[in-house]
Amino acid sequence: MTVLKNDRFLRALMRQPVDQTPVWMMRQAGRYLPEYRATRAQAGDFMGLCTNPERACEVTLQPLERYPLDAAILFSDILTIPDAMGLGLYFETGEGPKFKKTISTAADIEKLEVIKPLQDLPYVMDAVSTIRRELSGRVPLIGFSGSPWTLATYMVEGGSSKDFQKTKALIYNHPEAAAQLMDKLADSVIAYLNAQIDAGAQAVQIFDSWGGALSHDAYKSFSLAPMAKIVKGLKRENEGRKVPVILFTKGGGQWLEAMADAGADCLGLDWTTDIGQARARVGDKVALQGNMDPSILYASPDRIREEVARILASYGAGTGHVFNLGHGITPGVDPEHAGAFIRAVGELSAQYHK
Ligand code: CP3
Repeated sequence: MTVLKNDRFLRALMRQPVDQTPVWMMRQAGRYLPEYRATRAQAGDFMGLCTNPERACEVTLQPLERYPLDAAILFSDILTIPDAMGLGLYFETGEGPKFKKTISTAADIEKLEVIKPLQDLPYVMDAVSTIRRELSGRVPLIGFSGSPWTLATYMVEGGSSKDFQKTKALIYNHPEAAAQLMDKLADSVIAYLNAQIDAGAQAVQIFDSWGGALSHDAYKSFSLAPMAKIVKGLKRENEGRKVPVILFTKGGGQWLEAMADAGADCLGLDWTTDIGQARARVGDKVALQGNMDPSILYASPDRIREEVARILASYGAGTGHVFNLGHGITPGVDPEHAGAFIRAVGELSAQYHK
């Protein structure tokens, strides 16, 4: 195995000393980059990119060619799991993801089978090993999955949703069937992330994009509990190094203490929580990742730099902070502004690590 030349991302996740705050961006490979749009056009469409390991590798590396990022993230999607379960994922231009089949009854849930990642999603593991080879130790590679709750919303609604009516009706009317669905998804995520780790992922993130839409009690039962089960089932060491786990519940600011008890190494924060206050609440239990409002990237480079300075000061001195946006970078962002953001973190953060 090649030596990792820049490991400050992994070190910060384990709350070990670093020389500066590591930084990466959720959705860093994506439509805001003209080179991404060109590769996607060559591949035909988004799924064509995901299923071709060479092209997936190419777009994973594109943001690293432009910016001094401290991590790469596998180019894929969270919806590969429901697709492998037989729901038939497709993308309608301008409308986001859709499924040919949806889950609506207890009988549908009973029939679902836990995925076998090497058999069902070989292209994902091929992409992971191709990217690891091409990175040749520049920075670590992040693998990822959706959370059971977030995956369930797409499977039950048949696509994106604003209010998750059908999925909420399922958990309130049929809690046993809903629990069985979360359990099958948790087992699928465990197998999927462990296969990514075996293929070379050096850290993993669980995206709970819609956990924040749940009530206090429903979050604990239907989102956090299945994620805690996943964390327990993951391989936590590989190639002689810890494989850190990041839990990101968008809108999860009020549940940080409970999330910190789930066993993960790091919690992702969206921009609605003050990172300094979050740090005081979780203490030295976990590292924190975040949390600049992605919309700040529409402001001027000077304003972006100010916001980076504010967040660094709010977190304060010492390790345990991975700088990121509070959610994915959006397609309309000027790539120069993303560059100003990444460079500002590098330039302004060293003073907090003396
Ligand atoms: O971060 C990265 O660079 C890695 C790649 C990545 C993608 N999707 C690529 C993608 C990751 C980590 C995801 C995760 C994902 N996918 C989530 C959770 C993260 C989050 O943002 O909360 C969710 C909810 C999905 C489901 C999904 N996939 C949606 C809703 C969409 C449509 C988004 C839109 O803005 O139209 C996708 C498609 C998708 N996944 C794109 C990319 C780059 C855009 C596809 C395109 O090129 O047209």
